[in-house]
Amino acid sequence: MSGVTASRISCITDDSIALLIDRFYAAIRRHAVLAPVFERAIAPDEWPRHLATMRRFWSSVMQASGAYSGNPVEIHRAVQGLDRPMFAQWLALFEATATALFTPELAAAFVAKAKRIAMSLELAVFHRLDAPPDGMRRPARPATPPPQAATSCD
Ligand code: HEM
Repeated sequence: MSGVTASRISCITDDSIALLIDRFYAAIRRHAVLAPVFERAIAPDEWPRHLATMRRFWSSVMQASGAYSGNPVEIHRAVQGLDRPMFAQWLALFEATATALFTPELAAAFVAKAKRIAMSLELAVFHRLDAPPDGMRRPARPATPPPQAATSCD
């Protein structure tokens, strides 16, 4: 199978995204802190729909496919039990999952995107609730990342 060396996946395809999503949310559903939040929000028979949404989301993020449309900020504002320390736990699990599956370069590409999105989600969801009204400014947008030619396999 092309794109796989020493059992680590080295390129971004629909299949590699699907594998990451399946493994990541399987781990989420075993996580002591995160699992209850997800299980409260997503009924057992809604998980296939959620996983399909997340595949489209990551395809849009990593492949610029435009497959996802939605409003993650509004959706996370409505998630019961979500708190700020969970973002670090979510990211640690995402990084562990990506690192186990992908080459270091590909894992780093996913993790870099996840960190930026997590930071903006956290700010958008929480800054109105517990920060001084004028005491917090969004950080400047990070520089555009370099092209991902090395991790795309067409
Ligand atoms: C603090 C950790 C997080 C928790 C506990 C959490 C929880 C959830 C839950 C429960 C849902 C399903 C909501 C519903 O269908 O009613 C959801 C959806 C989603 N989450 Fe998160 N999330 C977290 C962090 C993140 C991060 C860091 C990202 C992106 C990198 C992300 C991206 C998404 C997306 C794209 C959806 C689907 C939105 C849609 O249906 O259009 N989440 N999340």
